[in-house]
Amino acid sequence: MKTKKFVLSDQDMPRRWYNIMADLPNGMEPPLHPGTGQPCGPEDLAPIFPMNLIEQEMSTDRWIDIPEEVLEKYAIWRPSPLYRAYGLEKALDTPAKIYYKNEGVSPAGSHKPNTAIAQAYYNKVAGTKKITTETGAGQWGSALAMCCSFFGIECKVFMVKISYNQKPYRRLMMETWGAKCTASPSTETEAGRSILEKSPDSPGSLGMAISEAVEQAVADENTKYALGSVLNHVMIHQSIIGLEAQKQMEMAGDYPDIIIGSAGGGSNFAGLSFPFALDKINGKDIDIIAVEPTSCPTLTRGPFAYDFGDTVQMTPLLPMHSLGHNFVPAPIHAGGLRYHGMAPIVSQLILDGIIRPESIHQMETFKAGMTFARSEGFISAPECNHAVAMTIREALKAKEEGKEKTILFNWSGHGLVDLAAYEAYFRGKLSDHELPQEQIDAALKDLEPLPKPKQSTI
Ligand SMILES: Cc1ncc(COP(=O)(O)O)c(C=O)c1O
Repeated sequence: MKTKKFVLSDQDMPRRWYNIMADLPNGMEPPLHPGTGQPCGPEDLAPIFPMNLIEQEMSTDRWIDIPEEVLEKYAIWRPSPLYRAYGLEKALDTPAKIYYKNEGVSPAGSHKPNTAIAQAYYNKVAGTKKITTETGAGQWGSALAMCCSFFGIECKVFMVKISYNQKPYRRLMMETWGAKCTASPSTETEAGRSILEKSPDSPGSLGMAISEAVEQAVADENTKYALGSVLNHVMIHQSIIGLEAQKQMEMAGDYPDIIIGSAGGGSNFAGLSFPFALDKINGKDIDIIAVEPTSCPTLTRGPFAYDFGDTVQMTPLLPMHSLGHNFVPAPIHAGGLRYHGMAPIVSQLILDGIIRPESIHQMETFKAGMTFARSEGFISAPECNHAVAMTIREALKAKEEGKEKTILFNWSGHGLVDLAAYEAYFRGKLSDHELPQEQIDAALKDLEPLPKPKQSTI
């Protein structure tokens, strides 16, 4: 029998996270204070984050020890298995060898607990009593709810309204783990009320939900805010995915020519790819592809600029690819990919030519999810189907070219709580969303008065 999955023991779990900040070929520009426009110091972030996480956010240490308490919680599902997708390879009749890292085995069903555990732990150590956050599809909110319950911290989640209505089961997961979940925009905050005044029927966006969560954190010194993607410390925590995958690819006796991850804020993509990106920086030839939805094309159509992380302009200005902080994407089912910005490190590595972005329409992603489910068994989250669809494209290209490429992708989460999206697909209720250039241009007008990074592409 051929080996289907490559499994590490608890003792093989990496003990250190990798921080690519130590190895960026051209460094990075700093975040700027939203009021003064000057580079942010640690004290500027202190109202929102605990100091131990701020230190990590600004760290350029290559390796960061994973605390024992975090390792113990990781061990609930980590190391996660690496699979060889024999079934998918056969279905596509491709000479490509396809591997996927299964991050759907966590209790919350995605990669998000990799950072939620670390963030809850560091907040606990710092004395935080309550954490506020935003969530799109509910993957991040449910992950944080679970991890706050592990460490005895109260958790409050603002869930993007469209997803709150589309995905009631994620809200119930959050409640099971003891969190309070509110549809955003809500009347609970100044930010929510001001948005509702202008657009009472707003479907919400991650940018709006972040504004609400940050507002509540700033208002109370025992409350902090946690972000499930985008920031440097989140990329650091997620590196455990790629560090494990490196060991597992070695077990398989293989090395990837192509690495693929879906990109919302960039964290699962970064988690799998950054340890390999270091090999690329050191001379390896790897094609590293970040896949986003065509209806929220942050990397493929958004410029590199300074922009706010939220709609109401409370967060620091980050140097990143952005569609503008007021951009409201079409209500596609991949809620976790509906974000106007992108991790600054991912954005920088695109400028540096280490990573390449691609975008895919919604219908192709669901078709890919069906092919994957019928050949490998697992039902993917709609976000994750973007990585599956790109993998299928690359595997078919390899077939056309007659090349035996090795493809590694991140299977970032299962879709068992997203079956309403699959139902909509089966009933012909899903479509592709064309995004007119005028809509992007209108949203980008908001960036004009903001400071520009040196490598600005506006
Ligand atoms: C399963 C899954 N994959 C991918 C993403 C995209 O987020 P990120 O780019 O931070 O990995 C999400 C976000 O909610 C998700 O739930």
